[in-house]
Amino acid sequence: MEQPTGMDFRTLDFERLWAGRSLTTAVERSVVADLLGPQPWERVLEVGPGAGRLTDVVASHGREYVALDLHREFLARLPVDATPAHVLRVEADARRAPLNDGTFDLIVAVRIFNFFADPPELLREFHRLLRPGGRLLLGYQPRPSVATLVDDVRNALHGRRPPGAPTMTFGRGDRISAQPSSFPAWLSTRSYVRSALSRAGFRVDRSVSTGAEDYALGRRLPARLFARAAPLADRLAIFPTQFVWARRLPDASGPPFPDWEDMLRCSRCGTAYGAVSWSPPRDIACAACGDALRVEPGWLLSSPTEGRAAQG
Ligand SMILES: C[S@@+](CC[C@H](N)C(=O)[O-])C[C@H]1O[C@@H](n2cnc3c(N)ncnc32)[C@H](O)[C@@H]1O
Ligand SMILES: [Zn+2]
Repeated sequence: MEQPTGMDFRTLDFERLWAGRSLTTAVERSVVADLLGPQPWERVLEVGPGAGRLTDVVASHGREYVALDLHREFLARLPVDATPAHVLRVEADARRAPLNDGTFDLIVAVRIFNFFADPPELLREFHRLLRPGGRLLLGYQPRPSVATLVDDVRNALHGRRPPGAPTMTFGRGDRISAQPSSFPAWLSTRSYVRSALSRAGFRVDRSVSTGAEDYALGRRLPARLFARAAPLADRLAIFPTQFVWARRLPDASGPPFPDWEDMLRCSRCGTAYGAVSWSPPRDIACAACGDALRVEPGWLLSSPTEGRAAQG
């Protein structure tokens, strides 16, 4: 089973989705900053940055920063400041990134995991993109949680879940489809995510949980308090968002990163494009299968000949 191809997230109305939830964003930014730690990472990949709620935090931790999303419209709006030496926006499907093996020492993927019908496929791709010992910060919505309980009660009250269908909170099995959800999405148990990570070649070093701030009782408390309590909250296994900090095995330091100009590979056949300069804007074709990409300064676009200028 796959995330349906051609899923269009551009209808996501981030302003509406996040209206009145600035505390949640503040808590998540704080948790991400804590997990990334003080040291600068060499080359960071943010997967599915959306409206860029976390982008400046992630980018400021990297000497080089790459954002990858299905939609150039989202990538164009990202607030990346001048901190990283290089910035690249890649329009691509995260399951088939047009980027070479071992290109990153850190991948951050928050609030995207639930959209993938085949998590092992996504985690294998993250593993491929990281160099040995590289880190993955995965933020996702697990089940069960107080959020699934609230949604289950609402679904029952409004007759939204078919009779006999498992509830997100008490249903058996590793993964249950999320409802309500604007897009196909799945809620996994925490133990499923851990074992999927381990099968994909990761070791989980830490996990922390957040989400209490989304509820009325917590809305007057400071974000730092929720961030500090996140390791403890994780033990209760009832909070709606979990951040997992994992390490790619084997743990030995790997080969050097491919150069910034040497990062691209064909997402169809896996052949490296070789050294590519980022200007002038043009289409480049895979030497093996002819698959084309469009290169522009600071950009890699999935549709050849459809530059950003042509898109308006
Ligand atoms: C709910 S938003 C999360 C945005 C951001 N990380 C945050 O926490 O606010 C999900 C993002 O993932 C992107 N996305 C979904 N499926 C994707 C895929 N297969 N490949 C790349 N990006 C994808 C969407 O376009 C969107 O930007
Ligand atoms: Zn190819």
